[in-house]
Amino acid sequence: DFGTPASRATETVTLEIDGFPVTVPAGTSVMRAAAEAGISVPKLCATDSLDAFGSCRLCLVEIEGRAGTPASCTTPVTPGMKVRTQTPKLKQLRRGVMELYISDHPLDCLTCAANGDCELQDMAGAVGLRDVRYEAVENHFTPRNAGGDLNPQWMAKDESNPYFTYDPSKCIVCSRCVRACEEVQGTFALTIEGRGFDSRVSAGMASDSFLTSDCVSCGACVQACPTATLQEKSVIEIGTPERAVVTTCAYCGVGCSFKAE
Ligand code: FES
Repeated sequence: DFGTPASRATETVTLEIDGFPVTVPAGTSVMRAAAEAGISVPKLCATDSLDAFGSCRLCLVEIEGRAGTPASCTTPVTPGMKVRTQTPKLKQLRRGVMELYISDHPLDCLTCAANGDCELQDMAGAVGLRDVRYEAVENHFTPRNAGGDLNPQWMAKDESNPYFTYDPSKCIVCSRCVRACEEVQGTFALTIEGRGFDSRVSAGMASDSFLTSDCVSCGACVQACPTATLQEKSVIEIGTPERAVVTTCAYCGVGCSFKAE
């Protein structure tokens, strides 16, 4: 996974990443250029098949002569650019970002259907997170707050779709599902409601479940989800198959891929 889609430009750009010269097509993201050079930048919201969105802030880099720490997935390469991906400051920032994610996430990894196949889990390890300093008293997954009142942000699982479940408590709002629905399937069934801490994925403002929404059950959102938020029911019921093949759905011409036993 190179993190962002390939550029089709014919002209090339040469830059330096962590001291290594890299030549890539113009319009390539810094993240993809790094991947082409064998340098992996931590990420959660970027994938090969979806337009970069820049929401998770895990892929921060330093660029010589440029203030701040831009997201490598949304920053295009420029000639002569000098990029650093692994400085102590970046490592500290990434651990801080990951700490915030984990402080608002259920810690039931051992019994979670995505255990061993979870990008949040992988990235927590990749950035070296060992401790979470923030006490999760009132967050998205807690049905009741510390005072015993129903948490106004809590949402029940949506199990209405026959093929997959939606568990908002595990959502990191990376919007990969929303973008997959739009960019891969062209359905526009999903959206993000609310702002900031109140943001959440929703199967359409006018619908109260996936089953009654415009969702066509193509599975593109499930495949795009980096956690167990959108999970195949078969995986929840019988676990991840030990051996799986990736097959392409023949239902329409989009070409969505699925794991099959
Ligand atoms: Fe770049 Fe998420 S991968 S901001």
